[in-house]
Amino acid sequence: MPQPKPTTEPSPGLPVPCIPSTAPFTTEQRAWLNGYLAGLFADANVPETSNARSRDDRKTEPLLVMFGSQTGAAEGLAKRFAAEAGQHGFAPRVFPLNDYQKANFANASRLLIVSSTWGDGDPPDNAAAFWQFLNSADAPKLDHLQYAVLGLGDRNYSDFCGAGRKFDERLEQLGGRRLVPRGECDVDYEPTAKKWMEELWPKLKKTGPASRLPEIQGDDSSIEMRTELDAGPSRHETDGAPALRYNRINPFPGRLVVNRKLNGPDSAKDTRHLEISLEGSGLIYEAGDALGVMPTNCPVLVEELLATLGCKGEEAVADPAGNALNLHEALLRCYAITQPPPPLIQAVAERSGNSQLLALLAADKKGELDRWLQGRDIVDLLRGCGSAAFSPGEFVALLRKLQPRLYSIASSPKAHPAEAHLTVAVVRFEAHGRPRKGVCSCFLADRIVLNDTPVPIFVQTSHGFRLPAGGDTPIIMIGPGTGIAPFRAFLEERRALGAKGPNWLFFGDQRRAADFLYREELGALLAGGALTRLETAFSRDQAEKIYVQHRMREHAREFWEWLERGAHVYVCGDAKKMAKDVDAALHEVVQSAGGRTKDQADEYVQRLKTDKRYQRDVY
Ligand SMILES: Cc1cc2nc3c(=O)[nH]c(=O)nc-3n(C[C@H](O)[C@H](O)[C@H](O)COP(=O)(O)OP(=O)(O)OC[C@H]3O[C@@H](n4cnc5c(N)ncnc54)[C@H](O)[C@@H]3O)c2cc1C
Ligand SMILES: NC(=O)c1ccc[n+]([C@@H]2O[C@H](COP(=O)([O-])OP(=O)(O)OC[C@H]3O[C@@H](n4cnc5c(N)ncnc54)[C@H](OP(=O)(O)O)[C@@H]3O)[C@@H](O)[C@H]2O)c1
Ligand SMILES: Cc1cc2nc3c(=O)[nH]c(=O)nc-3n(C[C@H](O)[C@H](O)[C@H](O)COP(=O)(O)O)c2cc1C
Repeated sequence: MPQPKPTTEPSPGLPVPCIPSTAPFTTEQRAWLNGYLAGLFADANVPETSNARSRDDRKTEPLLVMFGSQTGAAEGLAKRFAAEAGQHGFAPRVFPLNDYQKANFANASRLLIVSSTWGDGDPPDNAAAFWQFLNSADAPKLDHLQYAVLGLGDRNYSDFCGAGRKFDERLEQLGGRRLVPRGECDVDYEPTAKKWMEELWPKLKKTGPASRLPEIQGDDSSIEMRTELDAGPSRHETDGAPALRYNRINPFPGRLVVNRKLNGPDSAKDTRHLEISLEGSGLIYEAGDALGVMPTNCPVLVEELLATLGCKGEEAVADPAGNALNLHEALLRCYAITQPPPPLIQAVAERSGNSQLLALLAADKKGELDRWLQGRDIVDLLRGCGSAAFSPGEFVALLRKLQPRLYSIASSPKAHPAEAHLTVAVVRFEAHGRPRKGVCSCFLADRIVLNDTPVPIFVQTSHGFRLPAGGDTPIIMIGPGTGIAPFRAFLEERRALGAKGPNWLFFGDQRRAADFLYREELGALLAGGALTRLETAFSRDQAEKIYVQHRMREHAREFWEWLERGAHVYVCGDAKKMAKDVDAALHEVVQSAGGRTKDQADEYVQRLKTDKRYQRDVY
């Protein structure tokens, strides 16, 4: 008996349909749908030979693409892969990992996971529940699954791409078959992701037809592009104002009520204490959480870029969601216009034929390219390669979406209801003959009119930077520079709770006279007993550098005693050097004052981590 054709199969000769630009989809959704349709109709005119039939069958082969992403990079890649999957003839569905049930993960036969790593080798928030599930007694057998994992991370962190590795290994333990070795991307993730994908497509195409498990079912239509917009309300968005849901995608227009410089006049630094009103938002947070801020770009830089492009700013372009707007607005609000993204560098090199840049793009020249890019922004890149002309539309298509920045909240909600305080180091430097400004820190410090300009904000829950449950537990806080921020919150919180546990703070900055952030407050907390001990390390008050880790070593015996009394240790601030050096000092303290061998000290510190007694919020 002849089998009915699948309803998704096109009739030969049909033109490839295209989603109209007026359809209610974002650019990403439209690209994905068009990719899917292109894949579906790609060989619609091929006669129905047996080969063509088998290709047509593949067009209906499901592919589940899932992501774990905190700040959007892995999510963006997952959606791009899904768009490509459509072009390769698969029927992709995209979900955050925590939506594993809606995605019908347990029955999937082909799965791609793209996940970043946060905390100390942890999955991002929108993948944490999935990781728990994978390790629970409910975890399914995955003998029917063929999968591949791409990790995003940063080599500056000790557990590089830790979450990607954990997912990859666990899926294998549960019976899944790995299609290609795990990809591990550093911050410049594009080239590695591209290479991984190129290796993956042929392997995916060789996979047999999907198992007959009902892979696509339930509340799930056959093609979906789920995003954070679909996610259910978080605890932050329900309390107080249940009708409103403010999050990363829909930030609350906060009001800046205080903007105070914390450094003295002779300081080389500009660190601000900012107070933002959350009134009317329904946003709540806990000490240890961060606040996300969605900035706009510096208008002066936008003008410089327009002039460099030879544009007026009135030219019509699309924002990353596909909405029409003029170039000026797009550069001001939607796209990242400082550091040159790899696709733009590539395009500029190719169009200009600039031999120096072309040479730097060779695979073995990555280090040299990074050095060349140091301090260069998009204006520098375009000016240096004058003959690279782009239409406004082409140009913005090569840019990355402007991303929010996170700031550790410096206040306790118990001490300051409906307010979030921040401690922000304003990034300003000079490079290649032009002054440079950090996008978000300068947006906050320079361009927000108090009680007037809205500051788009959301709460970023911390998963792993929390005070101990018991108020009697001693805590040791190590936070040089802006690393002080969450410790101000911790101290306020413990005082508000009447917690009796002793609190020890290590703070450092450049000069005592000019950079002793929150000096009076800390003095008052010491005097009032809410702060038990304060160690300071001012690095530039003497010939040799003195850092917080020097103070840890000086007080190794007491540090060890606090540890043995069950103290929790917290580190906040610079991830690149400080956090590593402090980690090394902690190991040394355990060895020297605790009389442990190196291996025993490693084990001791590892146990502190496992017991959540050593937590870090580093950036
Ligand atoms: C969880 C978390 C918590 C955070 N908490 C805080 C906080 O409490 N306080 C705080 O101030 N920041 C905090 N940050 C950092 C913050 O999110 C921003 O990264 C920071 O404010 C810089 O953002 P920006 O937009 O101003 O600068 P950007 O425009 O992003 O520019 C920063 C970049 O400029 C370049 N750069 C900076 N200085 C120089 C230089 N001298 N020479 C050459 N290049 C240079 C570097 O590439 C740097 O990455 C936190 C980050 C995270 C992830
Ligand atoms: N690119 C980087 O490597 C880097 C590193 C840190 C901070 N930053 C940026 O600088 C801005 C200001 O940051 P911030 O105010 O939070 O303070 P910070 O620059 O981190 O400095 C705070 C204190 O930490 C000291 N310090 C430097 N290296 C250290 C180390 N290895 N171990 C311990 N302490 C160390 C600094 O000393 P000295 O300055 O005298 O050395 C200073 O006294 C931020 O925008 C941050 O992003 C950049
Ligand atoms: C606070 C913080 C912690 C991080 N921890 C790690 C880590 O432990 N290992 C790692 O490889 N990368 C780590 N990263 C880097 C991120 O994984 C990386 O920036 C990634 O591209 C973010 O992707 P996302 O936007 O999809 O979340 C960390 C980044 C931040 C800001």
